[in-house]
Amino acid sequence: MANQSPILGVEIAGWGAALPAESLTNDELIAKTGIDSSDKWVQERTGIKSRHFISGEENILTLAIAAGDEALRMSGMGAPYNVDRTILATTTSLFKVPGTHQDILEGLPIVGGYSRPEASSKEVQTACTGFVTALLEGYRGFPVDGDEMDLIIGADTLSTIVDPEDRGTVILFADGAGAATLRRNNRRRDAGLLGWYEETDGSARPDLYCELGDAKYVQMDGREVFKRATRIMVKAGKIALERARVSIDEIDLVIPHQANIRIIDFAAERLGVKPDRVVTTIDHHGNTSSGSIPLALAETVNAGRINRGDKILLVGFGAGMTAAAAVIKW
Ligand code: UT7
Repeated sequence: MANQSPILGVEIAGWGAALPAESLTNDELIAKTGIDSSDKWVQERTGIKSRHFISGEENILTLAIAAGDEALRMSGMGAPYNVDRTILATTTSLFKVPGTHQDILEGLPIVGGYSRPEASSKEVQTACTGFVTALLEGYRGFPVDGDEMDLIIGADTLSTIVDPEDRGTVILFADGAGAATLRRNNRRRDAGLLGWYEETDGSARPDLYCELGDAKYVQMDGREVFKRATRIMVKAGKIALERARVSIDEIDLVIPHQANIRIIDFAAERLGVKPDRVVTTIDHHGNTSSGSIPLALAETVNAGRINRGDKILLVGFGAGMTAAAAVIKW
């Protein structure tokens, strides 16, 4: 779909983040898992210094609810929340059927929960691209004239599907969730989604996958994913910018999927964006899959680095291989 009309007058009204209580440094992770690695190797090859893992009662639902709750409060809502649509992006759903999204309606709590016919929820699974996929779904499904409150959440606990003895993956993946709300603001007719791009290249399937079943772990060809990731991020970012009719120089901040600092640096250079306009949180979050971009977004807005009117580029990629990019006027 080459011709796109921007979706305007819809703004990100709130944002939230949730990280598990436990954080492990590289040395702590190496000691815990017994893998043959070093803090130096992990920092140099990935940019990661520490990451969070769920423990005790924590799971993707508790993280998704915590992030969603923060985003809704920031949007000026008081519980019980009046949310029309909830879209959860996750790769690590708690159930095969029906999923995890429906439990968010009760857990938050959202007015009427399961019994309110107008409130809907769904789940998307495009691996680490998930949050951008869900956000695009939210914008594109937003009623043209009417008002509604959408809650978009990216939540993942990759620690539940990573082999603790596989040094190629255990050092990368982590747990976390982030959320954003979409709401109409007729006083800000220029804010919204300016352009986007989505792609799936199924030929990359063997490079990164996880089968269903107990003791089935993520299988990854790191080098191959690395090469494909840089290519697809640059392509997705460029096409979304073109469609938005925005040049890279007009972009105030790029928020890429936090997979590896070397992938981010390489893609940023190829996109022609200076490092000070690229958000990186990988050093303290690791790769939290669907949680990565909304966690980085929340941290960046909270730090005062994004202001109303700024143009931001979100670029995600993940297993599939999927990719999605969105140019947003904040
Ligand atoms: O959300 C998307 C998900 N995935 C990604 O984005 C992953 C993309 N790929 C990567 O980030 C990198 O490929 C890795 C971080 C996974 C690996 O880094 P690399 O620089 O590509 O290393 P490599 O796979 O080329 O391996 C180089 C060496 C190998 O040893 P030999 O064969 O040269 O003796 C590996 O066995 O490094 C070894 N190695 C490690 N050494 C210490 C692999 N993992 C580790 C480790 N500690 N944790």
